[in-house]
Amino acid sequence: MAKLNYWNATWSLDEKQCPCDIHFLDYLKEKAVKGKDVFHMGTGNHHIIGLETAKDGSGNHVFGITASKEEYDDYVKLLIDNARLGFSYKCYFGDIYQIDRRLMPDLDFATLFHIGEYRTAENDKYGALTDDEMTFVLADKLRPGGEIHFYTGSFAYDKGLAAGKALVAKRGFTDAGIYKTLHIFRKGK
Ligand SMILES: C[S@@+](CC[C@H](N)C(=O)[O-])C[C@H]1O[C@@H](n2cnc3c(N)ncnc32)[C@H](O)[C@@H]1O
Repeated sequence: MAKLNYWNATWSLDEKQCPCDIHFLDYLKEKAVKGKDVFHMGTGNHHIIGLETAKDGSGNHVFGITASKEEYDDYVKLLIDNARLGFSYKCYFGDIYQIDRRLMPDLDFATLFHIGEYRTAENDKYGALTDDEMTFVLADKLRPGGEIHFYTGSFAYDKGLAAGKALVAKRGFTDAGIYKTLHIFRKGK
């Protein structure tokens, strides 16, 4: 029986090495984004995007995914200690390449900062989606004008860029350019 290709590690916040989550929070703040729904790939054990949006008064909601058991355990602890967090920040454990369009809510933003970093032949053993297939599930759940953000600092940014180009070619997105370390693709209105 095929085993899940989970991420057997945990990641602490390190702005120098990996500023993508911080840059995404900066973007939301700079653009004064309010009342929007965000799907976030790769929470880290710090869960900064869910935690910050829960207290910044923006009314933004975050649905996070982690493939790390430790990071998921950290979310469970955070939620037990702060029940109100559960209204605006939900996190689940799983492989994003098993994302299910029937179970996904409508969205305004999706962060695919770590696309392609850990997808291997192990995922193929259980029929996981490809980078493009997974990206299209999220693209189709975005409301008009919604955005998918890739991380230019990822060691697999070439895969993010390829998925972005596929969004332009096959879903009519526009390349909305770079913000700090993030590459933004926008859905038509
Ligand atoms: C290097 S950590 C970065 C965490 C955070 N974004 C940051 O920059 O501090 C990579 C993250 O991607 C998540 N991840 C990697 N592959 C994944 C997959 N196939 N499905 C869901 N999450 C995945 C890991 O669980 C982890 O949270």
